[in-house]
Order: sequence, then C-alpha cells, then structure tokens
Amino acid sequence: MRIGILGSGLMGGKLGTIFARAGHQVTFSYSRHRETLEQLARDAGTNAKAGTPGEAASDADAVLLGVHWSRLDDIFAQAGDLAGKVVINCSLPMNAQNTELVIGRTTSAAEELAKRLPRAHIVSAFGTVPSEVFFDVFESKDRSQRPSLVYCGDDARAKSITAELIRDVGFDPVDAGPLRIARYAEPFTMLIAQLAYNGEDGPELAYRFQRF
Ligand SMILES: NC(=O)c1ccc[n+]([C@@H]2O[C@H](COP(=O)([O-])OP(=O)(O)OC[C@H]3O[C@@H](n4cnc5c(N)ncnc54)[C@H](OP(=O)(O)O)[C@@H]3O)[C@@H](O)[C@H]2O)c1
Repeated sequence: MRIGILGSGLMGGKLGTIFARAGHQVTFSYSRHRETLEQLARDAGTNAKAGTPGEAASDADAVLLGVHWSRLDDIFAQAGDLAGKVVINCSLPMNAQNTELVIGRTTSAAEELAKRLPRAHIVSAFGTVPSEVFFDVFESKDRSQRPSLVYCGDDARAKSITAELIRDVGFDPVDAGPLRIARYAEPFTMLIAQLAYNGEDGPELAYRFQRF
C-alpha cells in the first residue's frame, strides 16, 4: 500500500516507520525541518521517502493525519484535494496547552474532519494509545495475545484498509462501528494518557478487551 504521512512527529514518525518496515511505501511529510523528514525516511529503510504534504497525499492509498488540532487549515492547504482518499485520523482535538479536549460528547475530531472533507473517507484509529508503545507492539506482534486497538468509520473499504494497517503494527483491530463513536474513543484516550503519563510505570501502555 502507498501511505502518505501528514504530520511526521511522535505519532506519524513512528507509525510511518512501522508501516514502511511492514512493507508499505511511505512518504513522510509536514515538518518545519525537511531534514527531520529525510532522517525519518533513512531510518525507516528503502520503502520510505520524504516529501511535501501534496506529494504524500497525491498517489496515496491512505493518508495518516497526525497533527495538532490547530494545524488543520495549514495541513489541508498544503495537502491539496483529499477527495476519495482514505484519511486515517489519530489527531485529537486538544487545546494549545494539550491539557483538554476542545470538542466532544456531541461530536469529535473525526466527525469534524468528515464535515470538512465530505468526499474523503475518514477513519478514526491509532489515537487511543501513546506513541511510546508502537515499537514495542510491533516487536511483539508474534505473540498470541495482541493488544486491542479500536477504530471506527462509515466507509467499509476505508475501514478494511485501516484494519489491515492496525494488524501490520501488531494490534488486534476492534471495529467500534460508525464514525460518530469517535466522540467516545477520543475522551477514552484521555484516560489512557492519564495512565501512561501520570502513573509510575511509564508510557509504554496498550489495552486489551476480553470477552467472557
Ligand atoms: N503523541 C501521542 O502519544 C499521541 C497519542 C494520541 C493522539 N495524539 C494526537 O496525534 C496528533 C499528533 O501528535 P504528535 O504527538 O505526533 O505531535 P508532534 O510530535 O508535535 O508532531 C506534529 C507534526 O506536525 C508538524 N508541524 C509542521 N508544522 C508545524 C507547526 N507550524 N507547528 C507545529 N507542528 C508542526 C511537526 O513537525 P516538526 O515538529 O518536525 O516541525 C510534526 O511533524 C495530535 O493531534 C495529538 O493530539 C498524540
């Protein structure tokens, strides 16, 4: 698959690296420093390159959106037309201090993106775990019990592509239903962040649902 990374920071940088190592063609984009993107691409191996957001999006089968909520206007201006694209969103609608969600309960970042990009296929995924855990999950993917990762969206094909990528990273994808469920998944991340960053055991934390 060709994957465009829109926002190559903690989330996009790590997920893009793992996607490339899993065999996908990855373009890292959107940094204030081109060298950051070049270095990510070198570290990720031969399947990865650096580019502009427009280049990352243009021929992508899916794009991963991993930017601060305040950067949306800028990233969309640079990425160009995302009509028809699978847009996997891990961005949370955080305030400038990254302390509070600025929207929720009756909507979500994912739903607002869908309003803004009505011809794109938005899926909410990857945002419910801290970036610090991704490499550990990838390295443990052969274990029989994988951690869960919830995702939701309204387009079946986009969800199936996302589920494949979730599996490639090493999680067990859990289909939580339509995109509006993101209004519950996004606040759930605040609970995970509390456990990851305010506990004593470090941020390398994932979760697993178990049925009885
Ligand atoms: N980190 C996590 O564990 C985590 C978990 C769940 C959800 N999220 C959400 O995922 C999204 C991405 O988080 P992140 O931690 O990956 O963020 P980040 O590390 O700050 O990455 C943001 C990306 O945007 C780029 N960028 C380009 N121009 C920018 C500008 N003018 N100002 C700020 N950034 C600019 C940054 O590039 P340069 O900095 O290289 O210039 C970087 O590539 C956020 O919405 C966050 O709430 C994060």
